[in-house]
Amino acid sequence: MNHFHYIDGELHAEDVAIARIAEAVGTPFYCYSTATLERHYAVFAGALGAAGLDATVCFACKANPNIAVIHTLARLGAGADVVSEGELRQALAAGVPPERIVFSGVGKTRAELDFAVATGILQINVESEPELRMLSEVAAARGVRMPVSIRVNPDVDAGTHAKITTGKKENKFGIEWNRIREVYNLAGSLPGLDVVGIACHIGSQLTEIEPFRQAFLRVRDLVDMLRADGVDIRRLDLGGGLGVPYDDETPPSPTAYAEIMRDTLGDLGCRVIVEPGRLLVGNAGILVSRVIHVKEGSTRTFLIVDAAMNDLMRPALYDAHHAIIPVAEPGPGTVLAAVDVVGPVCETGDTFARQRPLPPMAAGDLLAFGTAGAYGAAMSSTYNTRPLIPEVLVRGAEFKVVRARPSFEQMRALESLPDWF
Ligand code: LLP
Repeated sequence: MNHFHYIDGELHAEDVAIARIAEAVGTPFYCYSTATLERHYAVFAGALGAAGLDATVCFACKANPNIAVIHTLARLGAGADVVSEGELRQALAAGVPPERIVFSGVGKTRAELDFAVATGILQINVESEPELRMLSEVAAARGVRMPVSIRVNPDVDAGTHAKITTGKKENKFGIEWNRIREVYNLAGSLPGLDVVGIACHIGSQLTEIEPFRQAFLRVRDLVDMLRADGVDIRRLDLGGGLGVPYDDETPPSPTAYAEIMRDTLGDLGCRVIVEPGRLLVGNAGILVSRVIHVKEGSTRTFLIVDAAMNDLMRPALYDAHHAIIPVAEPGPGTVLAAVDVVGPVCETGDTFARQRPLPPMAAGDLLAFGTAGAYGAAMSSTYNTRPLIPEVLVRGAEFKVVRARPSFEQMRALESLPDWF
């Protein structure tokens, strides 16, 4: 469910015509809907509450680190899951209280750990023994015992794209199952750490419930084992990963997800932390682009648009599907024809869709890529020296540019010619 819809034949975000935004800010641009963000948060947090879970929803900022997006969710009570000092600073700038921030990631630097300890965040999820030692040193130097959860690798196949699955033992993430006990032992012996829980994240864009159930059951076994060892496990960070429909997938509902959590872990008396990213923001964003040329080949028609793989990398990187719809609603009975939708970047990979049925489009027409709110702007780059594109937030009948398009001078500002020239 989202708030991008046709009104009088024109695509709108809530009450704002997309064409009007395009006129004002130029194309391409990302457009986010406040009402959709709010709805997704309410449905997700509501499902956890209805299942009777004591849960903290920490938005995975990597999906969309724009401070206006984070702030929209933080106002509703969301915390933040961050994976770098940059994201931690974004979350703080967006008004997320430190006591609702968790820091995940397989390779945090000493400086990043120190910044997190100094900030006094809720917890750090640690992924290796060297990291435990480093964090203990950093915390002890500041005279504190930092709350940590240890990320475990449950060796469960999330059944998702190979590049975004994380819970198999051959992945780089978490502590391998057979070493968990000794790692908790080590953590318990280090002076700068307060071991509070277990963290687990098995992958992203999961469209089946079963891998979650398996992972949660394994976490349950672990709670029993560690408690028997005398470790006071009181928090469970269950990661993110719940999928969204891009095409014809039917991912589990938040209710089904919350119920699995309740049924497998609900009686353990633990505070639950979840880290949804895509689910909260994916369908709350679109990427709007303009057709530059229609190029007729002998076997294909290419729609060459002004957005490219540097703006939305997912199709090139994961063969991801994004819906593509014209901003002007096609009339009834419009005949669709298969076209390849491509960007201007000098790589064949710069292809958004192959043989996609679309209504006839001409140079200058606007189109929108759906479900672009997660890992869209977040993963964009300036490849081909293309400026990062603006992000616009709509609320009701208003819209605001929440990240501006940099000028070429701004793009170049950090570069310099060495004085030996
Ligand atoms: N927690 C941890 C520890 C994670 O690694 C991730 C995602 C999340 C939470 C949030 O997962 P979500 O709820 O968004 O599925 N760029 C890829 C997705 C990479 C996900 C990485 N980790 C894509 O565009 O599909």
